[in-house]
Amino acid sequence: MIQQIPWIYTPVRTALAIWHQLIKNEIPELSKHSVLMKERSRVEETIYNMQRAGPGSLQVISDFDMTLTRFAYKGRRVPTTHNILDNRLLIDEQCMKKIKELLNKYYPIEIDARLTIEEKLPLMVEWWTKVHELLIEQKIKKDMLAQAVRESRSMLREGYKVFFDLLSDLQVPLLIFSAGIGDVLEEVIRQNQVFHPNVNIISNYMDFDHAGVLQAFKGQLIHTFNKREGALSHAAHLTELKERPNVLLLGDSLGDLTMADGASNVQNILTIGFLNDQVEERKELYVNSFDIVLVKDETLEIPNAILKNILKTQVRWSKRI
Ligand code: TMP
Ligand code: MG
Repeated sequence: MIQQIPWIYTPVRTALAIWHQLIKNEIPELSKHSVLMKERSRVEETIYNMQRAGPGSLQVISDFDMTLTRFAYKGRRVPTTHNILDNRLLIDEQCMKKIKELLNKYYPIEIDARLTIEEKLPLMVEWWTKVHELLIEQKIKKDMLAQAVRESRSMLREGYKVFFDLLSDLQVPLLIFSAGIGDVLEEVIRQNQVFHPNVNIISNYMDFDHAGVLQAFKGQLIHTFNKREGALSHAAHLTELKERPNVLLLGDSLGDLTMADGASNVQNILTIGFLNDQVEERKELYVNSFDIVLVKDETLEIPNAILKNILKTQVRWSKRI
């Protein structure tokens, strides 16, 4: 801006332009065709502000299913934490069939761009409640969960190791906020060896009886569109996050945008949305809602590039790069 003021002496203007070029946050990955942004300059300015504030000011809040996990692999859908339980070790064929029917009925509603969140809300409660009741009826055993995860086709997005390890190395807290099943989610990240001490999880946790048999789900139900309530009620427990005013948020649903509502004193927030499905129908809505939209991108390449940029000076000293 200063460069455009006419009365500034030309050499000063040139010097300022060079200086601006030097400090400018160039992230070449943002120029990829799969990256959509309504306002690239705002994105770059936010990243620059976050970089200046350093890792001590940053927190990352991420959804899990279809955000940290892949949407599809080799043309097949990758299971969500609920669908990992579709295993004969845990549930019978009849129940598997019912859960699949519910998925086929309610998932299209979850992603339908023509319906409002208010219209979807009661239907999401219905879906989650029915599935959780079916799972409880099956008397799922806690000690079979790890094997079910091992046998599943669950997959974290490519680049997950850099993502988790970098945040852990620089002690940046990662809050995973999922409407999936917490016990399964934990097992997925444990088996991928990235369940580091900086990871906190808010999710639907199973309640097992003394014999390790599922008898209920703990606490308030979390579904895709009530994350705001969950965020507010858990905020008090996550005191460390209060001192971190810069938030990088990752999600695949519009409901995920409320995951940071529990964070106080937010100064800079950058939201990244994975647009996995129903691309043409939802593109405009996503571009108007998230700062960065990643279209059918099965990797964490862009979040990693942004993180490396924000954490630039510290990353140089880290063994991860
Ligand atoms: P997330 O909050 O970690 O993304 O988890 C929620 C996703 O789980 C949501 O997009 C729908 C999905 N889901 C299933 O795949 N199967 C189910 O039975 C239920 C209840 C949800
Ligand atoms: Mg999700």
